[in-house]
Amino acid sequence: MKILVTGGAGFIGSHTVAALQQAGYDVVIADNFSNSKPAVLENIRKITGRDFKFYETDVTDTASVEKIFAENKIDGIIHFAGFKAVGESVELPLKYYSNNLQSTVVLADACIKHGCNKFVFSSSATVYGDNDIPFAETMPLKKTTNPYGETKAINERILTDTANANKGFNVALLRYFNPVGAHESGLIGEDPQGIPNNLMPYIARVAKGTLKKLSIFGNDYPTKDGTCIRDYIHVMDLAEGHVAALAKMPQGVSVYNLGTGKGISVLELVTAFEKANNLTIPKKFAPRRAGDLAEYYADASKALRELGWQTKRTVEDCCRDAWRFEKNNSK
Ligand code: UFG
Repeated sequence: MKILVTGGAGFIGSHTVAALQQAGYDVVIADNFSNSKPAVLENIRKITGRDFKFYETDVTDTASVEKIFAENKIDGIIHFAGFKAVGESVELPLKYYSNNLQSTVVLADACIKHGCNKFVFSSSATVYGDNDIPFAETMPLKKTTNPYGETKAINERILTDTANANKGFNVALLRYFNPVGAHESGLIGEDPQGIPNNLMPYIARVAKGTLKKLSIFGNDYPTKDGTCIRDYIHVMDLAEGHVAALAKMPQGVSVYNLGTGKGISVLELVTAFEKANNLTIPKKFAPRRAGDLAEYYADASKALRELGWQTKRTVEDCCRDAWRFEKNNSK
């Protein structure tokens, strides 16, 4: 089976390529390095000892995508490529809507033309909006809080409508909770450009001394310690969730939460990082960040029931692996 991975040089994409190759799949990567580095590709090869075909391509471009499908018999696609900075999406909504929606339209169209009948989409728990917890796949979705989140929700609808109109074209919508950590080798991991927006890479850079102090956004939420609660999932568990979804994909449209099913607070994650790595993270409390929900985590039972997948790694593994990657990284 040959799988096209868009955004395969990115954080979740690169780990998923490694997991796919380790499971015996042939991989073709398309990435334009808009938020990733070419060196990642060599590191994936080092991990798996296997090669893949690579296209430096913007997947919103119909002709470039057509070329990939013409040159390779693609059996399935995992579509990660997209912009993902929540704050930037509020400032530049059209950048997000044009890129994140156009790529899905172009890729789904190519799949149908070329008889590729498995499409795995990189969605997000953000599509649930402010909903009851735990978030379950059966819930009606509520409005998301930003254009980035809207692109995930709209892409889910684009792919659902396309699958409904094209019998035999099967779609798995994977809703990620909070991916963290890095490959156990320390060779690939999360490497955001500039100041990280997300908690774990921020903590890792404070640990390294690149950033001085972690600001904890809000300590007056209605939670056990006043800080927000999230479901942090190790990126290799998440990657293996994609392999499971490809292998067991039902006919038509299916939706799966990929999370641990357990929420922990910002303070608990910081403490876990300090303990796992035997260091201290300088921190202070700061005002709430706009758009943050107090608490959510996954109902992860459907993926276990239908895909036979569940997370295996602990929060300590996440913290240890994130730090190993940060230390190895030259910045
Ligand atoms: N936080 C801090 N300080 C920081 C960064 C984050 O206290 O420097 C807090 C946030 O306020 C939040 C928690 O850490 O309470 C997690 O924040 P992240 O930015 O790491 O993650 P989010 O839960 O906000 O968002 C993530 C992804 C989005 C995705 C969303 C889906 O970044 O892409 O989950 O639920 F849409």
